[in-house]
Amino acid sequence: MALLAELTHRCPLKCPYCSNPLELERASAELSTDDWKRVLSEAAELGVLQVHFSGGEPMARRDLVQLVRHAASVDLYSNLITSGVMLTEAALAELVEAGVDHIQLSFQDAEVESAERLGGLRGAQQKKLDAARFIRAAGLPLTTNFVIHRQNVDRLEQMIALAEQLGSARMEVAHTQYYGWGLLNRDALLPTREQLERSTAVVEAARVRLGASMVIDYVVPDYYAARPKACMSGWGRRFMNISPAGKALPCHAAETLPNLTFPSVREQSLRQIWNSSEAFETFRGTSWMPDPCRTCDLREVDWGGCRCQALALTGDARRADPVCERSPDRHAITAALGSARDNAAWAPRQPRTPA
Ligand code: FES
Repeated sequence: MALLAELTHRCPLKCPYCSNPLELERASAELSTDDWKRVLSEAAELGVLQVHFSGGEPMARRDLVQLVRHAASVDLYSNLITSGVMLTEAALAELVEAGVDHIQLSFQDAEVESAERLGGLRGAQQKKLDAARFIRAAGLPLTTNFVIHRQNVDRLEQMIALAEQLGSARMEVAHTQYYGWGLLNRDALLPTREQLERSTAVVEAARVRLGASMVIDYVVPDYYAARPKACMSGWGRRFMNISPAGKALPCHAAETLPNLTFPSVREQSLRQIWNSSEAFETFRGTSWMPDPCRTCDLREVDWGGCRCQALALTGDARRADPVCERSPDRHAITAALGSARDNAAWAPRQPRTPA
């Protein structure tokens, strides 16, 4: 089991594909250090092996080092998911001393101008390159992450070259998933079919060339797939997300689902939430499934796809994921693909009201 600890929604970057909700949580609503420590202890007791410290930008939390140290003390493997723009050499030394196990460093592009336009922060690329150097010098395993989309996918070869040059043990090449800001900006981000096919060919060629020297994980955009992804490996099966304000969620976008109340870790233990909350039970397993999922041979492979995508595209979280070619709502995907275009405007991710 894995826990995604979304420590904060604060972030110096403004990436238009961010999967955070449009209504970003304010700093004043965030869980306290002691709450997070208790959550980490409860997670370890529940059988969680890995904690992913994420955000927003987790380094915006002043207590990150304390939380990493606490995770290490309860034997959780800790992964820091960061943009790197706040990762100075001194900050990294503190994290290493506290016991961080792994760092995933995100890049918006290989080309500086495009990267900084997408991230909305001048000077960010050099800070990321420095951060990668500090991580490698500290002897930590480095995963570089590139979210790709219509605006940057044509530079995938350069991104792979950059990941190699930085000494990544692993590179994630993830086509944008359409939640939160990514969904809002979908027309500007969805690649063309030609871009998708080319990016897949580039990854396949790089995998052959690189062998085991750098592993490439590749996430395709499910809008072009015939079958839905097993979102979160199935609702309430292996994954728990804690929002900055302490809501326990079966996925990062679950708060978009109406008529479901998500329990707070301020009020209930993770064990209670995992075992018996309505939020985790509602779409767990297969008994909730509508047709055509109910009788589908793949129902325990894809677990019905994504509930948040079904809601976003059909207005009903209980319907089959429209990505599935057997879904009666597949036309919603066809329409989305048809409205994507090169000159579509996009909105930078930022608080709608001052935090
Ligand atoms: Fe919520 Fe897929 S993102 S179920």
